[in-house]
Amino acid sequence: MNKYGTEFSKRVSDILSLHTGYTDPIEETKKILYEMLEPTPDRGDMLYRYEHCIRTAENARRIAIAEGLPVEQLVMAGLLHDIGYKESESKGGFRVHQFVSADIASAYLDNINYDIDYREEIVTAIARHNLTDELPDDMTVFQMTVRDSDDIDRFDIIRTSMVLGDCVYEKTNCEIIEACNEAIKKAEWLKSLKRGTKTAREMFDRVCEKRIGLLKEILDQANKNLTSIK
Ligand SMILES: [Fe+2]
Ligand SMILES: [Fe+2]
Repeated sequence: MNKYGTEFSKRVSDILSLHTGYTDPIEETKKILYEMLEPTPDRGDMLYRYEHCIRTAENARRIAIAEGLPVEQLVMAGLLHDIGYKESESKGGFRVHQFVSADIASAYLDNINYDIDYREEIVTAIARHNLTDELPDDMTVFQMTVRDSDDIDRFDIIRTSMVLGDCVYEKTNCEIIEACNEAIKKAEWLKSLKRGTKTAREMFDRVCEKRIGLLKEILDQANKNLTSIK
């Protein structure tokens, strides 16, 4: 049994056994991430997840460079933060994916003998990456950066389009107004959360304000529609 309670399936153990060292740690990590998520043609969601991890890692890189944090280690953490997504499907799903990811990442980092000074920090950051308002007292800037990088990608324009679609698709004006108000409330709550760095704050606020602005435009339109049919 691993630290966060995951028992590895044969599939996970087999993939882990293929990665025992590295020339370039980031390229090695992209390879194992792809294999673990296994985006077969019928699993477009896993390809989306793979790309999301790459984007999260790039957000982490930008924050690390701007804030003088360890760049490679944060990129590694960003890449690995959702590595257990597919595996967690048989173990409790989204609710436990951060722990499954942390356990897989821990075994992988040990296997490739990655930077001993950062192994635990990367694994803890992964286990804590979807915490929102209740943050442990010992949560470090490094750990916050992984969670912030993930949140920033969750507010990119594609995810925002998905939210906007959900707010309007086959809905009446009244339902649209209700859904938009709800989505605005949620976005404002996320915007109010503590961030690890000034750079993360700015990056998140930018994408979050864009989403709120678009939702408000839809809200205005739905309100106008309501008045015009009275
Ligand atoms: Fe996640
Ligand atoms: Fe994520």
